[in-house]
Amino acid sequence: ENGMHPTRQPFEHYGPFETFNHASIRRGYQVYREVCSACHSLDRIAWRNLVGVSHTVDEAKAMAEEVEYTDGPNDEGEMFQRPGKLADYMPAPYPNEEAARAGNGGGLPPDLSLIVKARHGAADYIYSLLTGYCDPPAGVKLAEGMNYNPYFPGGGIAMARVLFDGLVEYDDGTPATTSQMAKDVTVFLNWAAEPEHDQRKKMGLQALIILSTLTAISLYVKRFKWSYLK
Ligand code: HEM
Repeated sequence: ENGMHPTRQPFEHYGPFETFNHASIRRGYQVYREVCSACHSLDRIAWRNLVGVSHTVDEAKAMAEEVEYTDGPNDEGEMFQRPGKLADYMPAPYPNEEAARAGNGGGLPPDLSLIVKARHGAADYIYSLLTGYCDPPAGVKLAEGMNYNPYFPGGGIAMARVLFDGLVEYDDGTPATTSQMAKDVTVFLNWAAEPEHDQRKKMGLQALIILSTLTAISLYVKRFKWSYLK
């Protein structure tokens, strides 16, 4: 059974030449870190990926250093703990799938790196899922520990509603409503799944300008060169 079709949302980056809203990526990272990262990994993103996108080098370094990573073996053949570096990847909440399922009543929180591209409806779906929790319709029985969300295929989802007004405090002063946090974390996850997005759209615009200029020149030259033939 399919989930309810998500409504199209007015994301700023939807235009053919629009880049991501980077202030939104930054706020969305905060939501991921403070809320989602308790259960979801983000395996494909390293601290350095945030540099110049949502954070400065110094901010990214400081955030990495707050996390302890296991490294080694050293010269004595032992593993050791060290603070994170820019090259390290985001830490995962669970050591393996078994632990992840045990912590979520049997459900498995998927890695979020590519989730925006992996799901039908993309960003609209993620936003709708996060804001769409409601009571099940009359007659719908949910298994123990399951939650109702009409956007999730089947309706019953192992993830409960996680976003509530005022859950985080944004450092840019944006009011952290449920919908604002859902939008921001969706933009962040969309960036994570498509880090080349902005570059691609800028190149597309340049290609369009260059190709249309060349077309105009060649039309002009053609008319000029052939002008004496009737
Ligand atoms: C599933 C996003 C927080 C536990 C999912 C899915 C997404 C998602 C996109 C996949 C849905 C699908 O398969 O179509 C998020 C975001 C979060 C967040 C953006 C933060 C804002 C959490 C937290 C927990 C959690 C804090 C644990 C307490 C789960 C579980 C599933 C899941 C268990 C699997 C659901 C199932 O297959 O039934 N989440 N999540 N999530 N999430 Fe989260």
